[in-house]
This record gives sequence, structure tokens and C-alpha cells, in this order.
Amino acid sequence: MNRLAGKVALISGGARGMGESHARNIVAEGGQIVIADVLDDLGQALAEELAPNALYVHLDVTSTSDWDNAVAKAVEAFGKLNVLINNAGILIYAPMTTITDEQWDKLISINLTGSFKGIRAASAALIRFAPSSIINISSTAGLMGSAGGSAYVSSKFGVRGLTKAAAVEFGRDGVRVNSVHPGNIATPMTAGMTMPFSHVPMNREGVPNEISPLVLFLASDESSFSTGAEFIADGGESAGNATPFV
Ligand SMILES: NC(=O)c1ccc[n+]([C@@H]2O[C@H](COP(=O)([O-])OP(=O)(O)OC[C@H]3O[C@@H](n4cnc5c(N)ncnc54)[C@H](O)[C@@H]3O)[C@@H](O)[C@H]2O)c1
Repeated sequence: MNRLAGKVALISGGARGMGESHARNIVAEGGQIVIADVLDDLGQALAEELAPNALYVHLDVTSTSDWDNAVAKAVEAFGKLNVLINNAGILIYAPMTTITDEQWDKLISINLTGSFKGIRAASAALIRFAPSSIINISSTAGLMGSAGGSAYVSSKFGVRGLTKAAAVEFGRDGVRVNSVHPGNIATPMTAGMTMPFSHVPMNREGVPNEISPLVLFLASDESSFSTGAEFIADGGESAGNATPFV
């Protein structure tokens, strides 16, 4: 129950969905968490529930000053910062022929540029309080294409590439950087979407608690020799199409 003792993590998009699950698991394993989101009421309530080992800060990941503030608050409240989880994300599916500039720019600025800004803002603290870990939440959409997913797929491939670049850049500094690639997971993001799972070898979607153990592993020193790597939990989706030939 103490796998994350001595770890202080900052998670973007931590108010609900998978981020909420990761926050709960980190505190359950003895860590401390700064929950950062644009959903202030949900994030504040979660932090109060997990107090004194949690703090909520307002963070729009597209804002450089919000990132600087979140990092400063983490160090001020808990004395250090040694885990960053770039989890905030949005999903827009639109055909490539009609997706608008605004849709494209919004998605890339949150999913990809937001993750970059998080790394840039947190890097000095992560180096200072090393050993540290950056966990970038990509997707199976960072491994494979999907129809209608041009912006989302591009952003998640970008997060995967950003991970490699940061892992190489920070390798000598005691800061490891890895990407996590969930398949379809039941969260508010996917609520209301009708998706067939017959192509998935395990023939179902996942739940947030099937991703949190990967995040715990990467946040802790158990993963001390892993950096620049991809960690997949997708029911086998990226291994191949399970729909039988007829
Ligand atoms: N649900 C899935 O099937 C699935 C699969 C693979 C990857 N992912 C990725 O996992 C991550 C978490 O997604 P989820 O499914 O829990 O979705 P979710 O919608 O439940 O959670 C996303 C969180 O990000 C926050 N957020 C959105 N824009 C933000 C911004 N500008 N600044 C700060 N926070 C912002 C939201 O408020 C929300 O709390 C995302 O990066 C998503 O792309 C999801």
C-alpha cells in the first residue's frame, strides 16, 4: 500500500474519468496528488475527499501561466514534484474533408501542445526532485489510424513522439518519460458513443481501474529502467483484428 510513498504527482484532467481513477490510486498507494483541471467543482470535491494528500488547482493545459502556477502550488503544498501525468484530453471525430480549423487547432492545443507545455513547466522541478517520472497518456490512436480521427490520431501520435524526444533529452537527469496507450475505456469521454468491440480480441471495452495499475508502475521506482517506452492496455486491439473471416 506504499508503492508511491515519497512521490508527489501532478495530473492534468484529474477531476473525472481515468484521471480521477489515477488520482485515487496514487493516494491509496501513499503518494500525494495535485489534481488539475478546468472542472473546478468536480476537482475540488475530489481533492477534499482525498485530503490531506490531495490539492486541487485550476489548470487549462493550453495556458503557460496556468502550468507555471500548478507546478509552483505543488512544490509549495507538498515540498516537491517528482511525477507529471499529462492526462487531459478531448476527443473530436470529424471527417478529414470537413473538420474545421477551429476543431483541429483546439484538439491539438489541448492534447499535444498541452502535454508539451506541462513538460516544459515541470521539467526544472522534476530534475531537482529526481528520480522523477513523466507519464504521457496517448491511446491506441497513437499506434493506429481510425476513420474520422485525423486530429485525435495526429495528437496521440504526437504525444508518443513527444515522449521519445523528452525521454532522450532528460535521460541523464533522472527523469524517465513513457507513454500509456489505452484502448476504449468507459469514461465520460466515451459515454453515449456506440462502438462495436467485436474487432477487439477481448471483445469488450476496459474500465479506468485497468489503466491505473500501469500509471502506478510508471510513477513508482518499480519502472526504474523504463524510459521512452510504450505501455499498452487495449484488450489486444492493436495486436490485430479479431473479426473472423467469412
Ligand atoms: N476513454 C477512452 O476510451 C480513452 C482511450 C485512450 C486514451 N484516452 C485518453 O485518456 C485521457 C483521459 O480521458 P478520459 O477518457 O478519462 O476522458 P474524460 O473526458 O473523462 O477526462 C478528460 C479530462 O480532461 C479534462 N480537460 C479537458 N480539456 C482540458 C483542458 N484544456 N485543461 C485541463 N483539463 C482539461 C476534462 O475536464 C476531464 O476532466 C485523455 O487524454 C484521452 O484522450 C481515453
